[in-house]
Amino acid sequence: MAWLASPPPTANMDASIAPDASGVLATPAPRPARHNGTHPASGRPMIEVRNLRKEYVMGAEHVIALDRINLGIARGQICCIYGESGSGKSTLLNQLAGMERPTRGGVRIGGIVVSRLDERELAEFRQKHIGFVFQSYNLLPGLNAVENVAMPLMFRGVPREEREARARAMLRRVGLGKRLNHYPSQMSGGQQQRVGIARAFVTRPQVVFADEPTGNLDSKTKVDIMDMIRDFARENGQTIVLVTHDEHMAAYADRIVTLLDGRIVHDTEQDE
Ligand SMILES: Nc1ncnc2c1ncn2[C@@H]1O[C@H](COP(=O)(O)OP(=O)(O)O)[C@@H](O)[C@H]1O
Ligand SMILES: [Mg+2]
Repeated sequence: MAWLASPPPTANMDASIAPDASGVLATPAPRPARHNGTHPASGRPMIEVRNLRKEYVMGAEHVIALDRINLGIARGQICCIYGESGSGKSTLLNQLAGMERPTRGGVRIGGIVVSRLDERELAEFRQKHIGFVFQSYNLLPGLNAVENVAMPLMFRGVPREEREARARAMLRRVGLGKRLNHYPSQMSGGQQQRVGIARAFVTRPQVVFADEPTGNLDSKTKVDIMDMIRDFARENGQTIVLVTHDEHMAAYADRIVTLLDGRIVHDTEQDE
């Protein structure tokens, strides 16, 4: 547990990430080594979860949503968090991404103790290193496809012309070259999720979290969406944490971590 005792990162995220992480958060290699559980340069997983527990207090009742979770996810791995409804999948993703604070234990991403960052540091950390894909797409309704995809680049200070050019290129890659100026309400669920994927990957984040990304889609579209997520991830050596209760989607992962009642009950790696 030594790493939990390390001091919290400084306000300067670049300074805190670069030396500490031994290049874990640096530009990824195109085709990472798989299945070895560690990052070759640092000898440490990209994502580390130690003795994680999350309780919710609801009046007199305590819900133990997660307990004794230990997990290391290698850089470049597509890791599926699998389990039935209520097993704790979303809670785990929320702790990994720093959306909620664990009751006990901690999460490191690329050497950074996410569970210790304050709100401002977290926002900056997410903008720089994390992408999200949501079940309900979470596009901004008042922005068209290009503007939605360009949004994370705006937060990174990329000039307007460049970010819109990159957004258009991403949208073409997800097959939406003819929907660039469409608003979310003018697109199907599958098209909206393609926009969501373009938005998650446009910044080439080190880690992409996806919570039931195909949960609202028909079976043909599900396959297209999973193919896209996998292809982008492989191209950039990105680490993907995919939450699903759908065994067909889990089959896309390198590894399936199964939750039941907030505990890990299976952890298996699989071949493509
Ligand atoms: N904010 C919350 N307050 C109270 N209980 C919660 C909260 N979020 C989740 N839970 C409970 O924690 C357990 C795990 O929920 P969740 O992580 O959403 O499961 P899953 O995503 O696998 O369906 C459930 O029993 C759920 O009711
Ligand atoms: Mg859930």
